[in-house]
Amino acid sequence: MAQLDAAQAGSFAIGGDLSVNRLGFGAMRITGAGIWGPPQDRDEAVRVLKRLPEIGVNFIDTAESYGPYVSEELIGEVLAPYAEGTIVATKGGLTRTGPNVWPQLGRAEFLRQGVMMGLRRLKLERLDLWQLHRIDPKTPREEQFGEIAKMQEEGLIRHVGLSEVSVADIKEASKYFKVATVQNHYNFAKRDSEDVLEYCAANGIGFIPWFPLAGGELVEGNERTRAIIEKHGASASQIALAWLLKRSPVMLPIPGTGKVRHLEDNVAAASLTLSDDDFNVLDAVARKN
Ligand SMILES: NC(=O)c1ccc[n+]([C@@H]2O[C@H](COP(=O)([O-])OP(=O)(O)OC[C@H]3O[C@@H](n4cnc5c(N)ncnc54)[C@H](OP(=O)(O)O)[C@@H]3O)[C@@H](O)[C@H]2O)c1
Repeated sequence: MAQLDAAQAGSFAIGGDLSVNRLGFGAMRITGAGIWGPPQDRDEAVRVLKRLPEIGVNFIDTAESYGPYVSEELIGEVLAPYAEGTIVATKGGLTRTGPNVWPQLGRAEFLRQGVMMGLRRLKLERLDLWQLHRIDPKTPREEQFGEIAKMQEEGLIRHVGLSEVSVADIKEASKYFKVATVQNHYNFAKRDSEDVLEYCAANGIGFIPWFPLAGGELVEGNERTRAIIEKHGASASQIALAWLLKRSPVMLPIPGTGKVRHLEDNVAAASLTLSDDDFNVLDAVARKN
């Protein structure tokens, strides 16, 4: 496979003015089991972060709830002051009461605390992209969206993103602030958010598919798609990532890992170009799934 450079995936301007290479990095896996506490191999997690700017990855996704705090703290410690053009996107709105538990909390003061502490942990003066991790059903939307708009007006946040939302949610939030990105569970094998993706593409909203590698199993398991893997001399996960990148120009996959070797495997997918025929075969298999 060709040279390792996330820039080969092309770029996308978040909010119209923050250009990032479309193949990013998800920093949820640089934490402990259950996304709780420090990573088992901290030195390797540090090496992963240091490798990012060397291979063109300038879009990093994290959240205060990863660890909690561990991921943001490690990013701030290892990467600040950031290489020019690096965008760290973080999220708030989830509490952590134990491993693998993520209760939602959208109260205005909690969202603000997340932003204020995120600035400290990431060593930034403004958060370039802050995402509401989940809309809290127990808190009025007016309170959540209103506070986010206020923090943006105050200059604490540059662009706002949402996560796990419908088109109706995006439209409602858009009455308070411009929605710059949407982060939904989406991959080769999980296509429930097609309508959201279409809406994002039509409105210049970045679409960040989480769990992007999960589609690899489906690519592996079919004769026609296995032929594509072999033709490209790639892994199934790399084909799943290349498929995502070709699926839409607003697609910003953020594969996550705590291992340098896996990071490099994932970034290598940026240089994989699928033909239209390959794409159509893959797409047909995925849609039948
Ligand atoms: N908005 C949300 O609600 C939400 C939810 C979940 C995740 N996210 C974000 O999305 C990012 C990606 O999601 P994800 O981490 O769940 O899924 P993913 O990136 O699809 O898969 C990550 C898993 O695959 C393994 N892996 C990564 N690269 C590999 C490779 N080349 N070969 C073999 N195994 C590999 C990782 O383990 P190793 O560490 O051992 O490599 C990890 O277990 C997260 O980091 C986070 O930033 C957002």
